[in-house]
Amino acid sequence: MKLRKSKARLIVLSVLVFCFLPGAELISQSIENSKAGEDKKMEWFGKAKLGIFIHWGIYAVNGIDESWSFYNEYLSHEDYLKQVDGFTASNYNPKQWATLIKASGAKYAVITTKHHDGFALWDTKYGDLNIHKTPANRDLIAPLAVELRKEKLKVGLYYSLPDWSYEDYPNMTRNIKRYEDDPQRWQKFLDYYQGQLKELNSMFKPDLYWFDGDWEFGAEKWQAAQVRDFLLESNPGAIINSRLRGYGDYATPEQGIPIVKPIDKYWELCMTMNNSWGYQGNDKDYKTPDQIIRIFVDCISMGGNLLLDIGPKADGTIPAEQVAILEELGRWTNKHKEAIFNSKSGLPAGHFYGPTSLSADRETLYLFLTQKPVHPIVIKGLKNPINRIRIVGEGTKLSHKVVGKAYWSEVPGLLYIDIPVEKLDPQVTVIAIQLKGKIDLYREDGQVIESN
Ligand code: GLC
Repeated sequence: MKLRKSKARLIVLSVLVFCFLPGAELISQSIENSKAGEDKKMEWFGKAKLGIFIHWGIYAVNGIDESWSFYNEYLSHEDYLKQVDGFTASNYNPKQWATLIKASGAKYAVITTKHHDGFALWDTKYGDLNIHKTPANRDLIAPLAVELRKEKLKVGLYYSLPDWSYEDYPNMTRNIKRYEDDPQRWQKFLDYYQGQLKELNSMFKPDLYWFDGDWEFGAEKWQAAQVRDFLLESNPGAIINSRLRGYGDYATPEQGIPIVKPIDKYWELCMTMNNSWGYQGNDKDYKTPDQIIRIFVDCISMGGNLLLDIGPKADGTIPAEQVAILEELGRWTNKHKEAIFNSKSGLPAGHFYGPTSLSADRETLYLFLTQKPVHPIVIKGLKNPINRIRIVGEGTKLSHKVVGKAYWSEVPGLLYIDIPVEKLDPQVTVIAIQLKGKIDLYREDGQVIESN
């Protein structure tokens, strides 16, 4: 992620001051403190591993693409907005949502307060496209925030910077622009969107902001630095995702799992269960729990989080397929929690054919078996002696054997572990290797014989 400009400026300034003025020690200390402050703020997020994304809005009425369907001109803006009449939220049960999210093992949820279509799900004083235009006619964010917090889940709010319905926003559809350059109208839009953000900040004090759509303009035009500053001023613990033109705290790859470990310290893959963010009854192309869990363990293995999306119906019901996935995910995360939450990224490539994680004290190595082993599994280059090997959440002790260790060589032998196939989990099985001491890996080229 780009280094935030304000931070970069601060560092340059501090280096100059550090070199030329007395009292430099104090200044360097305050930089350290603010860095420590940022790490502290990110602590829960780094341990959380799983979050649930909720895309809910009027697009669920017809079951069409959220916002994009009119932006891409698959239907008119006018017809898109007619969906307000069908948005009832008549079966909305925020307590049940929170219980289900909690049971999935997730530690946070992120809900769309307003997508690019501009429809606001909370009781906003700004603009007039909101829940009061619908039969739902009540704030839908407030009760969810309450229920999530009762379950000790962190509350994240998705907010789209672009608002393709707002009369003073330049873009309306792919081909229709309201204006090119009109500072007065843009200022009206800034007041509107920043007013909404201040409102969200004071009403809900969210733990996390999930911005979207920053690609439409640059940081200066959005006033990204000011937005970050005013949000944090009254809500200093809030985490901000990367989609604020570089003024965020963590990276947000979308849909595709990274192949190599991202360079960002904190990151989160957001992903749909089928091929749609919002509810689309036609889209039955769901990933299986096994596929989702494998993607999840890839994230864990590379030190990231998974933000898995659900799309409730217009009446507030969560589709049965999505409930089933969350429940199976819950069974799996509950059984394997010690290998997931609070874990550190696992082994670099070359030591094990599969995803791995490490306990926070780095004394237990977890192996995620994404395939059914037909032979004993093998770890290479592990220098530690072994205390015990067991199946996580099940307890069976496993036997192991070290093969190919030459007495004169520093290169560790191959550690083979027998896996009883009858004990495998229906999804991914997890093996814990309790090490003597902190993990110690052999990372050299190998060794030529010097004596025998
Ligand atoms: C994209 C899409 C948006 C979706 C989001 C979720 O930015 O514009 O429709 O909500 O991804 O990550």
